[in-house]
Amino acid sequence: MSMLWFITTLTITAFICSSAYAYDNNPLQDICVAVNGSHASVFVNGKMCKDPKLATANDFYFSGLNVSGNEVPGFGISVKAVDVNNMPGLNTLGITLVRADLEPQRIAPLHTHPRATEMITILEGTVNAGFLVPDPANFFKSRLFSKILNPGDVFVFPIGLIHFLYNVGHKKATCLFYFNSQNPGFISIPNSIFASNPPVPDDFIYKVFVNGKICKDPKLATANDFYFSGLNVSGNEVPGFGFAVKTVDVNNIPGLNTLGISIIRGDLEPQRIAPLHMHPRATEMITILEGTVYAGFLVPDPANFFKSRLFSKILNPGNVFVFPIGLIHFLYNVGYKKATCLFYFNSQNPGVIGIPNSIFASKPPVPDDVLAKGFQLNKTEIAQLRKKFS
Ligand SMILES: *[C@@H]1O[C@H](CO)[C@@H](O)[C@H](O)[C@H]1NC(C)=O
Ligand SMILES: *[C@@H]1O[C@H](CO)[C@@H](O)[C@H](O)[C@H]1NC(C)=O
Ligand SMILES: *[C@@H]1O[C@H](CO)[C@@H](O)[C@H](O)[C@H]1NC(C)=O
Ligand SMILES: *[C@@H]1O[C@H](CO)[C@@H](O)[C@H](O)[C@H]1NC(C)=O
Repeated sequence: MSMLWFITTLTITAFICSSAYAYDNNPLQDICVAVNGSHASVFVNGKMCKDPKLATANDFYFSGLNVSGNEVPGFGISVKAVDVNNMPGLNTLGITLVRADLEPQRIAPLHTHPRATEMITILEGTVNAGFLVPDPANFFKSRLFSKILNPGDVFVFPIGLIHFLYNVGHKKATCLFYFNSQNPGFISIPNSIFASNPPVPDDFIYKVFVNGKICKDPKLATANDFYFSGLNVSGNEVPGFGFAVKTVDVNNIPGLNTLGISIIRGDLEPQRIAPLHMHPRATEMITILEGTVYAGFLVPDPANFFKSRLFSKILNPGNVFVFPIGLIHFLYNVGYKKATCLFYFNSQNPGVIGIPNSIFASKPPVPDDVLAKGFQLNKTEIAQLRKKFS
């Protein structure tokens, strides 16, 4: 590969990444059949392409989805994926298909896919499927959207949201999952906090939502629609956290609508943390204006549900760090004075999911069985933890 070609590709990729698509790029060519790079030191966004003249129909073909896959040890769930590794023609196309077979009364525990929306359809059996929608106004609340699914039913788990499946029937359940990424990623959610939650008003159901907000007549727009003043002052404290947050987004700069960007100013008291959380719809860049923070994010190990690597840095003023879309991260003010940070998101509505709290404080609650089986606790322990954090 010539260096010029490589740089040109990187430049084009960077340009495309800056548009509204926060995940898979649009393909840059008709086909790009994956070949394993002979030198592992070069990575591209996907795999390298085979010479299109050498591609064949078999690069776009897979056989065997009529048979279940290998069991994930201890979970009673078998998984078979059709992805770029066994269908190399999928490279750059932004799609993956997985077959899962779940034994009766077993669960696919709470997890998320940081880079994909997932559509699920049931071939056999009966499952209870649910996902948690965070309440943007409050780290500690979320709503559970769940359905009992039978053969032929289809359900969607929006990108980055925490979800589960539970085979509530008495025979094996067979499901197909479609992901709009060639590498959706998988993050299994750890347990630690249990709580309950007052009901969320349902009146939103009757309002009209579009992907963003409805647009003003462009003729009536003014410069003030694109302007905000006040980021020189810290925002309101998140109760109990020693962390003050001021958000500059479409709610206070209406001109940001559909532009896919927002900013938050965070002021963190000494020795306090911004707890483990993630943003389902955005990559975040952080820069430090004052103070010293320890910042980290967890990169899941695709080979093992229960392992991840911590990427962390001590950040001082002028330092910049990035939290890739959907990955769990935290900040810790390790200094002796207040730390002031700016966070940039490539979404107008990145969302925030407080990891332990969203799961255990959902309304309605995630079924006890899902928590007990997923986290290998008995129901007494679940009840105690819920009570403790209520
Ligand atoms: C790439 O290599 C891996 C392991 O070496 C192998 O399993 C896989 O089939 C290869 N993929 C392609 C597209 O050659
Ligand atoms: C799966 O399909 C293949 C043909 O694609 C066939 O040879 C095989 O017998 C089928 N297996 C089962 C268990 O139905
Ligand atoms: C913040 O900036 C505004 C002008 O945009 C100014 O009126 C205000 O006094 C500043 N506040 C602080 C605390 O610096
Ligand atoms: C649940 O587990 C705890 C220890 O972790 C144990 O003391 C208790 O007896 C168990 N309860 C039930 C109902 O199994």
